[in-house]
Amino acid sequence: MNPTKDPSKLRSQRWFAPDDLRSFGHRSRLKGMGFDDQDFRDKPIIGVLNTWSEMNTCHSHFQERVKEVKRGVLQAGGFPVEIPVMSLGEMLMKPTTMLYRNLLAMETEEVLRCHPIDAAVLLGGCDKTVPAMLMGAISADIPSVFLPAGPMLNAYWRDNTLGSGTDAWKYWAERCAGNLCEEQWQEIENCIARSAGTCMTMGTASTMACIAEALGFTLPGASSIPAVVSEHSRLAVASGRLAVESAWTNRKPSSLLTQGSFINAMITQLTIGGSTNAIVHIIAMAGRAGIRITLEDFDTWSRKVPILANIRPSGKFLMEDFHRAGGLRSLWTQLTDLLDLSGRQINGKTLGDSLDQARIIHQDVIRLRSNPIVEHAGTCVLKGNLSPNGCVIKSSATDGQLLEHRGPAVVFENYPDLKKRIHDPELDVTPDSVLVLKDAGPSGAPGFPEWGMLPIPEKLLKQGVRDMVRISDARMSGTSYGTCVLHVSPESRLGGPLAWVKTGDVIELNVPARRITLLISDEELQARKKDWVPPREHASRGYTWLYTKHVTQADRGCDFDFLEGGDYGKEPDIF
Ligand code: FES
Repeated sequence: MNPTKDPSKLRSQRWFAPDDLRSFGHRSRLKGMGFDDQDFRDKPIIGVLNTWSEMNTCHSHFQERVKEVKRGVLQAGGFPVEIPVMSLGEMLMKPTTMLYRNLLAMETEEVLRCHPIDAAVLLGGCDKTVPAMLMGAISADIPSVFLPAGPMLNAYWRDNTLGSGTDAWKYWAERCAGNLCEEQWQEIENCIARSAGTCMTMGTASTMACIAEALGFTLPGASSIPAVVSEHSRLAVASGRLAVESAWTNRKPSSLLTQGSFINAMITQLTIGGSTNAIVHIIAMAGRAGIRITLEDFDTWSRKVPILANIRPSGKFLMEDFHRAGGLRSLWTQLTDLLDLSGRQINGKTLGDSLDQARIIHQDVIRLRSNPIVEHAGTCVLKGNLSPNGCVIKSSATDGQLLEHRGPAVVFENYPDLKKRIHDPELDVTPDSVLVLKDAGPSGAPGFPEWGMLPIPEKLLKQGVRDMVRISDARMSGTSYGTCVLHVSPESRLGGPLAWVKTGDVIELNVPARRITLLISDEELQARKKDWVPPREHASRGYTWLYTKHVTQADRGCDFDFLEGGDYGKEPDIF
């Protein structure tokens, strides 16, 4: 017997090896499904966790990919078992998938823990599915290979390349300004989502796929392979094979993840001009591994790391171009002095090893260090009396004109209030106004929705205004852009200072100085605090109640307080 393939060391042996009544039950029921000893005895059992659903537009190819993963598992001598888990489809779930990220994380953790699984392949991709599944796998501490869904193919409309999200916002603004007719808008709707796969801009899904690769959970190069090309099928098969190997070698998340892995994740998020949502997810994933990452860490690295990926919304191209240009590994070759090259990977190699063959093919898509998109990545963390625990702005997704700005607030108490009044021709607003949205944080909305790119009032759009300073305790889509201050913490629903802002108050934004200030006296601030009445609770029962009672604030990653760190890898007791 190959000493590295000792079946007695497999976790699943606890279920199947003993000569007792309970194990007899486990074996006999698998036999009742048509399997025999040849199928599952003395072999790694590989859980294939599938987030496919007909309500998840980005994962529509997963039924095919599951078959390919299983083929790889069988090739390598494992026994594949498909397990459906909750699917978080960004487009159709309301109020927001973020409300359910922690639910999928819990489900992933418990599904892995309670079953006879030696290793897993996690099929995810649409935004929150990535951090959710990784958080669960980290807490269960079972060897896991992440298979990213892959981005959609580039989309085209007439002479224009279309990127999901980013170009929807852009052309919607033109439609509201009266510059696009119904027919043109319909044409865009028909072609902006060209294939299965995730948003093909550097939105949250692409950002998180890159971060999964940076943390070592994927095969090298996996993060940018388009969803519907044959290379993606081969990736699925290879991921299945790798899961079997990782079961024999017992490469658990705890053996991969270090402070350096998360620094690699941060550097990656910054250099790709990635989604601000990733900040919350990286902090949460690190928390599961017992590693502390703070908002300040992002700001510190943001001053050292250049943006090199010329991908929308910070740049010009799309993920298919990024892949053809060499993908993430080729970008990393420019940052070897910053990255922790010893970062361990699920394939047993290091991040440094994965760079051996990497080279940049198109230097306009992936820039050289000497020719960055911007010198210092634009993820800035601001503090001040409006956000004592910090908030973020992605300055690279702005045109830079409003990063130092002072203006009067126009306040919306919540999202329904915003929807009702934002386009009212009577709204007292000018291009200098600062739009403020309250009650959109983790507990507020609830679920921390992507409302942070507040719409520009129609009457200003018609005057040619395309950006304004906007402040909220919400998130924004990774495909969004504009001078949007996000994740204000503590949030307004919990009595953070954002709750006390009134229309007409002057707010000063100073991104270079990392400051955000409500220009009223401390006495006035305290008086408003005293008068503040908390809004009514959202729910008295069910998951929403659990969520609002236990979700942490944005600067702590919005995990549930009872799921952070600690007791991971705990095995079921009763057999
Ligand atoms: Fe699924 Fe954008 S909607 S990745």
